[in-house]
Amino acid sequence: MEQLNKKNAWKKLEKYAKTYIVQHSETKNNLISKENITLDYSGQHVDKLIMDSLIELANECNLHEQIQAMMCGKPINNTENRPVLHTALRAPDNKVIMVNERNIIPDIVHVRNTMKQISTKIRNKEWLGYSGKPITDVVNIGIGGSMLGPYFCIHALRDLVIDTLGFHFISDIDPHAFSRVTAKLNPETTLFIISSKSFTTPETLSHFQKALAWIDHEQKFNQHFIAITANVKKAEEMGFKTILPIWDWVGGRYSFCSAINLISCIAIGFEHFSEILAGAHSMDMHFCSEHFTKNLPVLLALLGIWNINFLNINNLLVMTYTQDLQDFVPYLQQLDMESNGKSINRQGRKIDYATGPIIWGGLGNHAQHSYYQLLCQGTNKIAADLICVRTFDDDVINKMCRAHKEVLTKGGNHGENPHNHIAGEIPVNLLCLDEFSPRTLGALISLYEHKIFVQGVVWNINSFDQPGVESSKEIIRQNNWIS
Ligand code: F6P
Repeated sequence: MEQLNKKNAWKKLEKYAKTYIVQHSETKNNLISKENITLDYSGQHVDKLIMDSLIELANECNLHEQIQAMMCGKPINNTENRPVLHTALRAPDNKVIMVNERNIIPDIVHVRNTMKQISTKIRNKEWLGYSGKPITDVVNIGIGGSMLGPYFCIHALRDLVIDTLGFHFISDIDPHAFSRVTAKLNPETTLFIISSKSFTTPETLSHFQKALAWIDHEQKFNQHFIAITANVKKAEEMGFKTILPIWDWVGGRYSFCSAINLISCIAIGFEHFSEILAGAHSMDMHFCSEHFTKNLPVLLALLGIWNINFLNINNLLVMTYTQDLQDFVPYLQQLDMESNGKSINRQGRKIDYATGPIIWGGLGNHAQHSYYQLLCQGTNKIAADLICVRTFDDDVINKMCRAHKEVLTKGGNHGENPHNHIAGEIPVNLLCLDEFSPRTLGALISLYEHKIFVQGVVWNINSFDQPGVESSKEIIRQNNWIS
């Protein structure tokens, strides 16, 4: 494989980066709308020459072939020799995707149907606890990819959540974590979802033991515990009867559309959950078929590459202008940083260019009253994605979003005093969702998943393993630091 900095497009981009001048182009030339999401990249520091070279770079990195390889189940997770098929989780029932000479779609459809049955039963108050009373509260025990997606999802779609049930999360190992959540719950009417791809995560297993003791009716185990895991054997050994599988070709952080999100399916109902899948699938189709110049995930990824590798901006600030996206950033932090926080390439060699950015941010309105000063006048280089919802266009929140975009990109002076000068020059993407719905949420998830994949392809890294995390766990174990 040719080194990245020897590629023609890379050399051209290095040259442009030395001479480019920040220009503010016409918004109309930089607006791409697909799948109910519009990307306005007029706030980025790019011109046609730079965009053409970025597209050329994608072609030189064989992006098209890599997309096809992922979608059809080639083992692109090369270090673990696994396919990467989170897109199969939202594929139509009649699709055929072969893994080890077996079509995986019937297994996926079977799990979807089980999710439908379980969620309907609980919502209809037909799932009974040990004393015969219907379940009133569902608690997800899980961490990382087994919690961040469902937590974000259920809060994002809170307006659709059934109000006759309570939904709760227990994740970190804080000694009070379990008791704080269960203090107001009744063991007779509480159902635990033990969510862990590996079923070996100590935080999750420790909380499971607490839950077992708290329910204290082992003979009625099945009425109070559901397991979701790729390690079905281990869950069976631990006594679980209701087990929803995920598979080794779904990464933990890519499991938003899998049974890992069962708690959201119960909360919003299977029909709405299916709309999330439909939205994600339509973005998948856009990603595989659209020309790169109009392809939202590809454009987001390439603009990020320009900022990271050529303008030396090591972070991406994500500001959201709707409370529905309040928990998006922690979810995205794992998705992006666990995927692309790498410095060894696919061939096992150390690389000499920057890779995944530090992801940070939160609600845009709150930013103005906390860290906005640093955005206006600080010394760190920053790039930003601003995300808003079109249905708020007449509301202050969207006026604020667009005003932030203007100030951050163009800066300004308020009087002669240098203390009042704002340089601007922050490269900004403005992403506008037509509305906030399960469908657009699914599309947004897929958009960022594929953006991260594209960047991994260009950087020649495997975005689907996490060897650093595994090594750290092993170092801690060997040294007996947590006994
Ligand atoms: O330790 C990191 C990690 O393995 C993540 O990749 C994962 O999402 C999280 O822990 C939880 O893992 P599991 O779903 O196997 O409990």
